[in-house]
Amino acid sequence: MNLFSWPRSQLLEIGDQSWCPSWLHRHEQLVLTQLWNLRVPGWSRGSLATQACAVFKEHLKDLSSYTVLDICAGAGGPTPVLELELNKQLQSEGKGPVQFVLTDLYPHISEWERISKKQQNVTYIESPVDARTVPRFAASSKKECRIFNICFHHFGDEDAAGILKNAIESADSFMQVMILLISYISSANSILSSIFEITARDLWTCLCSPLVFFFTFFVTLVWYLDSPVHLLFTFILPMAPLTIFVDGLISCLRTRTAKETWQLLDQPDLDLTNWTFHTGQKIVQFPFITLYYHVGIKS
Ligand SMILES: C[S@@+](CC[C@H](N)C(=O)[O-])C[C@H]1O[C@@H](n2cnc3c(N)ncnc32)[C@H](O)[C@@H]1O
Repeated sequence: MNLFSWPRSQLLEIGDQSWCPSWLHRHEQLVLTQLWNLRVPGWSRGSLATQACAVFKEHLKDLSSYTVLDICAGAGGPTPVLELELNKQLQSEGKGPVQFVLTDLYPHISEWERISKKQQNVTYIESPVDARTVPRFAASSKKECRIFNICFHHFGDEDAAGILKNAIESADSFMQVMILLISYISSANSILSSIFEITARDLWTCLCSPLVFFFTFFVTLVWYLDSPVHLLFTFILPMAPLTIFVDGLISCLRTRTAKETWQLLDQPDLDLTNWTFHTGQKIVQFPFITLYYHVGIKS
């Protein structure tokens, strides 16, 4: 274990509580979606969302045969960008589009409606979908790919193992993309090729996590300038930035290493024949934002 890391703890996030006001929950979802799209000219290597596209292109070869189910989709996360970029490429290759379906336990209907109106290949399920009991949504003629964007840490080991089991048994591939906000890359990790030693539960990650506090002010200014509630609870009583900072910090403490993630598949009755698993990372804004991913594909 890294000297500055510690065991995972299944703490609670404010945004997951039933008493969390819905405006605050949706604000948090939107901050994350904007984070996926953040690009700083001259610094960023694309955005988190475009790097997620690269992961898709590298790992899923016959994309147009998939329906991608975004589990815990929040305000859309990277899905609108994934749809645009991936379908642009498929179109240029003369192939049919890949379809995306947004789902969440707390559906963000206003955002999903806006996305879906602009992008016909993105649809959504209006009723709450619990990640722990997701049925297969793709038509029988399609393969189903499930994506878990910065949400897998929300689930304790038992639920997380069940979610992966369900994905293995009813889907054809899954992607778990984790953004570890303000994470860093230790050169030792790359040299040793031991991705299992990369962890978000490190001192640097926790020390830098307040940056998301300031990003929330920016999101309120750009997207909620006409909302007295959001303005009050951002600029006068900074409840929204504090909640998002606290939840970000707790997310870091809950995030699994690659090794811990794959250990969840160690279940006696789970048939992993024909499945291959990959883990990787892409630096987006060095040294602060890195995209980590775990991909499972059934051949
Ligand atoms: C950290 S946000 C990530 C949102 C989005 N995937 C993104 O990347 O921007 C976590 C999301 O998980 C959702 N969520 C929490 N528990 C859930 C559950 N049991 N089933 C489905 N969604 C859940 C929350 O409503 C929230 O939208």
